Amino acid sequence: MTTDPLDALAYRLIAGRPLVLRDGTYPYLSRGDGRWAGWQRQLARLAMPGLAAAGWAYPAETRAVALGATLGVGSWAKRSWKRRRFRRAYVSPTVKAIRVPVGTADVELEVDPGLGRLVARLAKPLSPAEEQARAWYGEHVEPIWRRPTELGADAWDTATAPLQPRLERLRTWVSRPKPQHGPRIRLTIAAPYVTSEQRSLISAIVRAKIPVGGELVESWDQVGHEVTATWVPRKRPPAKVGLTQLEVHGAGLSDDVFYLGQGPGDQAITVSLAADSPHIAVSAGSGAGKSVLAQLIAVQILRRGGRVIILDRKGSHRWALGLPGVTYCTRPEEMHDALIAAAAVADRRNAEALHQPEDWNPGHRVLVICEELNATIGQLAGWWADNREKSDPKRSPAIAALAEIAFMGRAAKHHLLAVAQMLTARALGGPECRENFGIRCMARYTVNAWKMLVPEASMPRASRTLGRWQVVVGGVAVETQVCYLTAAEARRYAHVAATSGVACDMQVNGPIKANCDDRDTVTLREAVDRGLVPWKWNAARKRMERGVNDPPKPTGKDGQAYLYDPEQLADWGQR
Ligand SMILES: Nc1ncnc2c1ncn2[C@@H]1O[C@H](COP(=O)(O)OP(=O)(O)O)[C@@H](O)[C@H]1O
Ligand SMILES: [Mg+2]
Repeated sequence: MTTDPLDALAYRLIAGRPLVLRDGTYPYLSRGDGRWAGWQRQLARLAMPGLAAAGWAYPAETRAVALGATLGVGSWAKRSWKRRRFRRAYVSPTVKAIRVPVGTADVELEVDPGLGRLVARLAKPLSPAEEQARAWYGEHVEPIWRRPTELGADAWDTATAPLQPRLERLRTWVSRPKPQHGPRIRLTIAAPYVTSEQRSLISAIVRAKIPVGGELVESWDQVGHEVTATWVPRKRPPAKVGLTQLEVHGAGLSDDVFYLGQGPGDQAITVSLAADSPHIAVSAGSGAGKSVLAQLIAVQILRRGGRVIILDRKGSHRWALGLPGVTYCTRPEEMHDALIAAAAVADRRNAEALHQPEDWNPGHRVLVICEELNATIGQLAGWWADNREKSDPKRSPAIAALAEIAFMGRAAKHHLLAVAQMLTARALGGPECRENFGIRCMARYTVNAWKMLVPEASMPRASRTLGRWQVVVGGVAVETQVCYLTAAEARRYAHVAATSGVACDMQVNGPIKANCDDRDTVTLREAVDRGLVPWKWNAARKRMERGVNDPPKPTGKDGQAYLYDPEQLADWGQR
């Protein structure tokens, strides 16, 4: 007797058998070769008409349930898709490669899903079309959602902070106990022994094919019938790094090397403005610590007798107000003058360097911090358009100066630290200019920002830890907890140089307008005008009169007005 195929299908449907039969066993009570046991499949199928009927009868409730289910299924699908992609990209090829040294023995490789978070997204080169699309997206679309989501995440963190201990207890109560060892890679080879050559080959394969950020600690166990090997990633960077570490690791660095923070396994991370790159690009979401990073490099430069020029409309660097060696520009005309002066010095040094030996020291180091590259260029262009004479060139000389500094090599000891989401600034020379920024620091990045700024490096997951950066040099990203200094610590650390009298050799080194006269006394009104204190004149006067936050004592009098030490005023402004 032949069976109608449709009847057979109906039977399989109702009986909980797989609809498409492949080789294998499909028992009713246990899982067999299928994903589900027969009874589970049967239950799911038979429940379906019932659910449909219920949906018909209670549409509103059904919609709510369906929405929940869709979200749940969506997040599950995303997770399993990621896991699959991870297996396909990393695990399977590694197993394939390991088969070569071990021959016919069975190989089993287990990679904890937790490691999937550490493993970088593979770097793929961008086509010009993709690059253009990403630049456009990054400039026009991403800012719309990025800021609100970051603010939302911050608000959530702040709001749930008091609840965290309880949430943590709840989490440990409902979740299965985690293994003590943390995420790891575990390899089992069904052979009683592997030689040391095989071991070193296998080790090299695992390290090459599963590029977990940071180093792996390896151990082999050859006892028994099988051989097992385990790799555990070295400890992630510490959660917080501060002045103590800077004092330990920042001491004794050579003149061009700067301390950034602690990396995997708590090793000190430094960059060299001579060997790595003279210029630094910084890209990060708001509140991720861009100004803190810029401050960290600035204080080290100041401490070694260098100069810092800050182009910043928002006043993110109050710590630097009134410090010797700092030129703080908040208005476009100040930025204009400072940039042109700095580029002139750099240019002179560059020309001179040609006639000097390789290790010639041109003088103090200069760091230009540009807090928002694109906006700054826009402001400089706008100001120039309003203020230039008819006979002046169309292009703002300050923008030209900025571009010139960005193209300076290490010999001139002029460095640009540019905060730029994408570094697409055409005014600086577009994509070619990007090459000048060989040190790139990324935090709270999006895929888009990463691909635009460091297309050559694979992308690790962005961390939510404050101050956790990826420092990319030569295509290699190193996870770094950047050292955080409070404003007072930064001032104190930077200020050591001031006592050695480095700040006032302007005439020798060129016309950089620093605050030499700032160390004389100022009136309160002058302090307000210069932005030494964050208040308007009236508010500052009232605070002074009422003695809010212990204001400084006057050091003298100029006619009717009291005179103050600008240092002390700036400190007061930060209390
Ligand atoms: N490396 C860090 N370690 C600890 N906290 C940090 C670090 N970087 C930033 N923060 C915290 O985040 C705040 C915002 O940092 P900030 O540099 O002003 O962000 P951005 O300039 O990116 O908007 C800081 O005031 C500080 O409290
Ligand atoms: Mg900032």
